[in-house]
Amino acid sequence: MKYEVYVEKNLPSLEGKLFLVTGANSGLGFSACKTFLAKGAAVIMACRNLKKAENAKNKLLELYPNGKIDIVPFDQADKASINELPKHLEKYEHIDALILNAGIFHPGKNLYTKDGYSLTVGTNFIGMYFAVEALKDQIKAGKFKRLVLVSSIVSHQGRSKNYEKYFKQEHRSSFKQYAVSKRMILEYGLYLSNELYGQVEVTLCHPGLASTNIVGGEASTFSKRFQHLGKKFMHKFGNSSDKSSLCLVEAAIKSPANLGYFYPKHFFHIRGIPKEKRLHLNEKKYARLLKSLSHL
Ligand SMILES: NC(=O)c1ccc[n+]([C@@H]2O[C@H](COP(=O)([O-])OP(=O)(O)OC[C@H]3O[C@@H](n4cnc5c(N)ncnc54)[C@H](OP(=O)(O)O)[C@@H]3O)[C@@H](O)[C@H]2O)c1
Repeated sequence: MKYEVYVEKNLPSLEGKLFLVTGANSGLGFSACKTFLAKGAAVIMACRNLKKAENAKNKLLELYPNGKIDIVPFDQADKASINELPKHLEKYEHIDALILNAGIFHPGKNLYTKDGYSLTVGTNFIGMYFAVEALKDQIKAGKFKRLVLVSSIVSHQGRSKNYEKYFKQEHRSSFKQYAVSKRMILEYGLYLSNELYGQVEVTLCHPGLASTNIVGGEASTFSKRFQHLGKKFMHKFGNSSDKSSLCLVEAAIKSPANLGYFYPKHFFHIRGIPKEKRLHLNEKKYARLLKSLSHL
């Protein structure tokens, strides 16, 4: 089914709702904002590069001239910036969902976040974890109805008995780094759903394979040849960014409200419209992660 038809027929009106999306200037985050606006919701774009965010906002306003769009600064690779996020959100009384989408798939070795964590794990998981920690008071006060964590189909290749070894040093391939970061997100979602039960709903999603800027954006340090092949592969076998972002959108608005997991339905779950299931809470599944978190 085409993205536009799905949005028209399968998604409810979101008039009066407000969604906060991290990494909203590109790819899935941008597409999710587009869908929220199409259904009448307002969006807050949390982005590290304010110029890119303004450009993205203007593109959205071309599509939805009456769209309500705010931008807040947010760099998930910089704890100081992350810690400012609650202050930027003070003026919003209620946010229907926070979609924790910002992430990278970075090939570079020996690259670090501003706080000295290895870049991929430090951005994708540790920065996201710090953001949730920074927002805990607001979460406990009921500001957010739902948290959505964006993982990946490759998360099952990221299991480790010792996550902390990935925190400060680059280990193994860039793919392993990425898979580990997405595995930690999945396990953290299970943990949060238990820790914050009754205070906020927690859902997860993976977008399958989506044709975005993740391998070929301007910040990418993959070789030009890899970027070209990667983009071609994603375009041929995956979803458009808009279609994959439906998994993020449904994770933000649909049931199951707690531990719902939304992912593409077809072709080994890398493409198609969203399908959902409920994950089962098992404390053993995040015991290793909790041990590792004590190292942060
Ligand atoms: N595309 C796929 O096939 C796929 C599959 C599975 C999971 N995912 C996940 O989906 C999410 C979105 O990726 P995408 O495919 O849409 O890629 P994308 O087009 O590259 O978008 C990534 C977004 O995250 C932002 N971002 C990166 N580092 C950031 C930081 N330190 N602080 C704040 N924002 C940051 C980027 O901002 P800049 O423009 O400033 O870099 C951009 O807005 C990621 O978490 C990714 O792991 C994607």
